[in-house]
Amino acid sequence: MKRIIVACLLCCIMVSPALAALKVTGRGEALRFDPAEFTPQMKANYEIFKVKCTKCHSQQRIVISFLSGHMPISGQTFDMDSLKSISFRMYRKAMNKPETLITKEQIKPIHALLKYMMQESSR
Ligand code: HEC
Repeated sequence: MKRIIVACLLCCIMVSPALAALKVTGRGEALRFDPAEFTPQMKANYEIFKVKCTKCHSQQRIVISFLSGHMPISGQTFDMDSLKSISFRMYRKAMNKPETLITKEQIKPIHALLKYMMQESSR
């Protein structure tokens, strides 16, 4: 029975993207994504993201970008088109110090996660 309910829910989510919602938790500086409902692959990607993308700032500004559709510092639009450039910009910034370095192998799953979350937030 439980399986049937889950299958129905999945159908609803797939046919009506407006129902899909990105879950977040915490407040202020502690505001972060809630990966509980991510796919297993995206949960694994989140583990890399949460370490690598919080070396210089918290998840707060990333969550705000997703929720508002605007990046909080530059005010630029945050959508599928701007995702690639923001990933690349952060990847470049992180190169400056060994302790923040993001490798090519790490940025790929991070970028895939950002794309996935963009789809989940139905932008
Ligand atoms: C080396 C330090 C560093 C790392 C690592 C880093 N960031 Fe940033 N991030 C910054 C700085 C500094 C800013 C302030 C805006 C700017 O300089 O572009 C920023 C701003 C942002 C913004 C807001 C941009 C705006 O224009 O308002 C987003 C979104 C963001 N980062 C996402 C990420 C993601 C995703 C990752 C992981 C791939 C990441 N950051 C990793 C330093 C970093």
